[in-house]
Amino acid sequence: MVHEHINIDQIFSLSALRSDNWRHLLGVSRKWVSGKVDMAEVKESFTKLEPMEMLHAYPGPKLVAKLSKDLVEERKDAFTALVARISFSILTRYYKEDPNEWSLNPEDGHGDSFNSAGVHRPYFEVLIVAPDRVHNVERNVQALLSQRQKDDDFIYEPLVVHTFQDAFCAVAVNNNICAVAIFDGFDFTSRLPVPQLNRTMGELHIHADEDHIGLQLASVIAEYRPELDLYLMSDQRPQDITEDPRSVCLKRVLYAVEEPTELHYAILEGVRDRYETPFFDNLKKYAHRPISTFHALPIARGKSVFKSDWIRDMGEFYGKNLFMAESSATTGGLDSLLEPTGNIKKAQQKAARAFGADHSFFVTNGTSTSNKMVLMAVAKPGDIFIVDRNCHKSHHYGAVLGGLYPYYVEAYPMKEYSMYGAVPLLAIKKALLNLRAEGKLDRVRAVDMTNCTFDGHVYNTRRVMEECLAIKPDLVFLWDEAWFGFAHFSPFLRPRTAMGAAANIEKWMRTPEALQAYEAQQAELGQQASDEVLLNTRLIPDPRQIRLRVYQTHSTHKSMSAIRQGSMVLVKDVDFVQIEPQLHEAVFTHATTSPNQQLIASMDVARRQMELEGYGLVSNAIQIALDIRHQIKTHPLISKYFKVLGADDMIPAEFRQSGFKDFLAPGTNWSDAAVSIRDDEFFLDPTRITLVCGTAGYDGTQFKTLLADEFNIQVNKTSRNSVLFQSNINNTRSDVAQLMRVLLELATRADNELAHAGAEGLKRFEERVVSLMTDVPDLPNFSHFHDEYRSDIGGKPSVEGDIRTAFFKSWDTSNNEYVGLFSEECDKRLKEGPPMVSAKLVIPYPPGFPIMVPGQVISQEIIDFMRKLDVKEVHGYDSSLGLQLLKLK
Ligand SMILES: Cc1ncc(COP(=O)(O)O)c(C=O)c1O
Repeated sequence: MVHEHINIDQIFSLSALRSDNWRHLLGVSRKWVSGKVDMAEVKESFTKLEPMEMLHAYPGPKLVAKLSKDLVEERKDAFTALVARISFSILTRYYKEDPNEWSLNPEDGHGDSFNSAGVHRPYFEVLIVAPDRVHNVERNVQALLSQRQKDDDFIYEPLVVHTFQDAFCAVAVNNNICAVAIFDGFDFTSRLPVPQLNRTMGELHIHADEDHIGLQLASVIAEYRPELDLYLMSDQRPQDITEDPRSVCLKRVLYAVEEPTELHYAILEGVRDRYETPFFDNLKKYAHRPISTFHALPIARGKSVFKSDWIRDMGEFYGKNLFMAESSATTGGLDSLLEPTGNIKKAQQKAARAFGADHSFFVTNGTSTSNKMVLMAVAKPGDIFIVDRNCHKSHHYGAVLGGLYPYYVEAYPMKEYSMYGAVPLLAIKKALLNLRAEGKLDRVRAVDMTNCTFDGHVYNTRRVMEECLAIKPDLVFLWDEAWFGFAHFSPFLRPRTAMGAAANIEKWMRTPEALQAYEAQQAELGQQASDEVLLNTRLIPDPRQIRLRVYQTHSTHKSMSAIRQGSMVLVKDVDFVQIEPQLHEAVFTHATTSPNQQLIASMDVARRQMELEGYGLVSNAIQIALDIRHQIKTHPLISKYFKVLGADDMIPAEFRQSGFKDFLAPGTNWSDAAVSIRDDEFFLDPTRITLVCGTAGYDGTQFKTLLADEFNIQVNKTSRNSVLFQSNINNTRSDVAQLMRVLLELATRADNELAHAGAEGLKRFEERVVSLMTDVPDLPNFSHFHDEYRSDIGGKPSVEGDIRTAFFKSWDTSNNEYVGLFSEECDKRLKEGPPMVSAKLVIPYPPGFPIMVPGQVISQEIIDFMRKLDVKEVHGYDSSLGLQLLKLK
């Protein structure tokens, strides 16, 4: 095994490296016991561990000192036994539950307020940042510890560091930290080498602020992990602190010498606030109350299930609580999702806080419904919205239901993999400028994009919004972040979420530099800048004019611990007072009047989890993804047949302005990624892993079926020659190991088969690979809406169209006609007309984007693409009838 040298600023890889290195130390010390290595080797291995252990409360100074002593005094057996215990405890996390794990002699017990009498209390760590060798700090820590009681709701352990950089590293790598107490006056620079951190801090312009180092640290931590509670222990005058705008990120300021009791209670209270799940807590109480139900939900309380001879197994399978917690009542504190005033409202407020929004709304019918609700709420019939043609079908149907006119813009194609990337900003700006030239800007309500896309393309949300706002300052943005809800809990991805970017724009707007930058650009551009110039300029909006109006939808169930269909709408809209009544109506239009209680509760709980451990879980999901990518790339046999697409394969160089290539490119580290995230037009979400399987002779669907049927591995989506894996907060290193084992088995199988295939077999294999990888159909762009569904101005065909009229026209069957896809008539009509106009939204799976929408004229490219499609599932197309068309007037 490779025993890697650890630098504490290696953020993503550290958790895994930590346990690997303990295991390595254990291996070496066992060899020491049996005389195979000398003490120097053990010492080297132990010394390498120390910097990382400094950032964790466990094993802590007492156990580490004992190890050092045993090592120096060559007590081989004692040293090895303790290493074994600590290593196992870190791996299994026993130290969080068992006080004995902290003792020099396990039999002695921890001697204080740890878990007792079998009651599980969640464990966390409090980072204490304080000057070194200051006597009263040590006294304060001891005083804090002495406050802990057996009946506290949670257990915590302190972790003390003495410099700004160590504190930053601890916050970055220690997932147990839930609160930070900062005693002013510590040093900036770590005594350990932190080259990556130095570089990134340089990039982010973080320098020592000698006078206010405590506040500076607090503001940096708040930016990195906003969910943490920050306490400043100071002896400055309160006004000196509150005058500094950075103080807004503090939960409390306490007078260092006086307040250990207050600090203790504040820490517990802060964690309790995140822990409390208003709806779920009440639902649990409700479930255990004696209740007779006379409403229409016989399954509630489960009597008809558990007493049944025939369906009792359902009760046994799901467990009693599911039925006890079922209710259609909105009384008894259960609140109403459609008109929340009690604990659902509180749960939603907490979710808004957790995801950095002003408001949040729980939706129990998936993001499919959230999207329709938002579109209907923010726009009225006849309004235009600029939308990725390749977006989820809920947006197209949202336009149909709300009467919006979609102005379709195209993502860049990735023809070789039969998928699309994301929509270049240039296309969005062009759309806005075209609409402006046609005098329609007042009808343009929203820009609606998918962030990230199914395949992981993440927009530079801030830049898109800023440049669009420079053209129309009151535009609404809908970011469909169905897949990306978790991203808020990664400091790297958060700035690229809708809410993260909106927060940054909001902050920027308030600075004097914003207006200066705007005015400087205006002076340069002049009044009459051409569209050409505007397209080629990174536009700066007028901060005085901006109405920041941002909506994000996410499928909580896709990336967090919510039950299927749990979705949220997040809002940061300065004009929300006008939208709120409309959103209400939209909710009434689309939401069920019988929302599922378990679903609502699961969203409440998903929020709790993300606020308390989301950072660690998301870091782990990213680490797992990087591991998978690395292992596939470097394995000689697996990489012969399979390839994971890197950022450079998924995003053309013109959209990676920083020059970032890929996570695995030689010499790349997370500070390069940080720069790419800040500057590049698109960034690849590392957790979405496209594996090319066409090179092994499998098409996507075939490979997906093989993985599922033979190996019980489920994948997310397929394309003609690839499958998409997604790592999430549920994955462990065992999943990585299993995936690698399976890929190795399949690569070995392919190798053996080819070895015995003979010349003819080899030729067939190569032809198959060429057909999958090279002979791929062109992806058809959106053609245009037919004249009947457009209102052109000045003879110039409009891009946006009346999809709603076209959609409902087919309801009258006399308006429909059918033409066979492979028929001569189809070819004839393409050449000679009359044009064929689709009655339907036609979506093949894969690739899953609509190749026709109602009212769209069908082009030769669309027919060519459909004829080459070899997929079974094509929504909106019945091969026995042919293409469903709208008759023309
Ligand atoms: C981009 C996008 N938006 C919305 C949805 C719909 O989300 P849900 O399944 O939560 O209804 C999906 C589903 O795959 C999607 O890919």
